[in-house]
Amino acid sequence: MNFELINKKITDIKSDCEIILVLDKNMEHKWVQDKDVLNNIGFEASSEEVAYLPSANRVYVTLDSLNSDDTRLAISNAYKSIKKTKNESVKIGLYNGDSQAIVEGLILGSYSFDKYRSKKEETYIKNILISTEDYNNKKINLEDIKTSIKNAEIIAKATNAAKSIVNTTPFDMTPQKLADYARNLAKEIDGLECFVGDEKFLEKEKMGAFLAVSRASSERPRLIHLSYKAKNAKKKFVFVGKGLTYDSGGLSLKPSEHMVTMKADKSGASAAIHIIKAAALLKLPFEVHAVIGATENMIGGNAYKPDDVLIARNGKSIEVRNTDAEGRLVLADCLDFAQDLKPDYMFDLATLTGACVVAVGEYTSGVMGNSEELKNEFVKSALESGELAATLPFNRYLKKLLKSSIADMSNISSSRYGGALTAGLFLDNFIRDEYKNKWLHLDIAGPAYIEKDWGYNQCGASGAGVRMCINFMINKIKEDK
Ligand code: BES
Ligand code: ZN
Ligand code: ZN
Repeated sequence: MNFELINKKITDIKSDCEIILVLDKNMEHKWVQDKDVLNNIGFEASSEEVAYLPSANRVYVTLDSLNSDDTRLAISNAYKSIKKTKNESVKIGLYNGDSQAIVEGLILGSYSFDKYRSKKEETYIKNILISTEDYNNKKINLEDIKTSIKNAEIIAKATNAAKSIVNTTPFDMTPQKLADYARNLAKEIDGLECFVGDEKFLEKEKMGAFLAVSRASSERPRLIHLSYKAKNAKKKFVFVGKGLTYDSGGLSLKPSEHMVTMKADKSGASAAIHIIKAAALLKLPFEVHAVIGATENMIGGNAYKPDDVLIARNGKSIEVRNTDAEGRLVLADCLDFAQDLKPDYMFDLATLTGACVVAVGEYTSGVMGNSEELKNEFVKSALESGELAATLPFNRYLKKLLKSSIADMSNISSSRYGGALTAGLFLDNFIRDEYKNKWLHLDIAGPAYIEKDWGYNQCGASGAGVRMCINFMINKIKEDK
């Protein structure tokens, strides 16, 4: 899809089709030229309603408000209704100058994953012509709009690429293949570098927790470290991703109905990889790192066991009581490694607990950490970006539930309640004092992978984490100015 900004009134642009977002239910706006026809067919501009009028070559779609996320949803709904037509070019005006939402809505909404289908989904739609004319005659700056179109393309394409990695089967996306993917990105993108550590490296680094999780798999673990550094970078961001390319649960085996979709347990890793990809393409003025623990959690004669005691990279001992609580073990070592990079901000992204999905619902990520201020700031930029996120509060009583009678801590809580938070508090044991307030744990278990369409997201992976973390960084540029 090509996006072109055209400095003309919408009526002066030639195209095969036009998209009109209907904000006013009375349909009084001048862009609504088919009011009578729309009334005739009973179009009421109610939530998510779409009317495609082929003879007029116009598609009308309800816009609930001028908020960016309503715009993304409306555009994506409009696209869905015309994607099978023979139209090649589509024109649209600006809504509150929000070209970013238009471009993101189209790119995110038009994603489809057909790697494994014999017949691929095709569309004729090629050129999106965006008029500089605004719905409310808002004055716009041409250069700003052009930049925001380019940036939106980078962010939305990175999000879609993150989806594809997650949707790829465990056979086709092993830890080694994920490492190859990261290495190739580094070859393609200017300024992006990649280091891949194998098992020997993990042993040298004394990553006893990560290694234990990986032991029973015939696919060997990899630590993937991508980095990007802008000239005169003022801040350092480190994103740590849970990269379980498959989570069978290990000896604490998952029941079969919970095992399906566990290819998505690499969503945190995929998000981290695509966050740094977008950061490099956007040339953000920062130093950015992605540290990924890639492994499978499998069963076998050499599997790690409930009752084992592991020694993590930071020297702390962990009693294993459930091998399905493996993500926190991998992250414990990766977070310790990440702190050696001396970050100003360190965020981990992980499909860590089913409990987080129970707590906030499947569409929302849980944001945990020790700094109220940082958590709130993060949620604000997440919501702006179109991702749902909510803070969850640590407390001292929950922390005690991780006590072990044999080691420094247990890998699971002794209570069945508050599982998202006790997982977050487990990770907190691996955060050094100087990084306590610079760290956030993002549990993306809900939105990372949903087996139905929702909003402008398709059934399967959603690329959760990418947009919210990029937007957090973008907001930090503004702060520096
Ligand atoms: N990968 C799962 C968490 C998960 C569950 C992600 C559902 C996405 C959807 C994680 O490794 C896990 O199995 N967690 C356990 C923890 C429990 C054993 C304390 C869980 O959530 O049940
Ligand atoms: Zn698990
Ligand atoms: Zn897992």
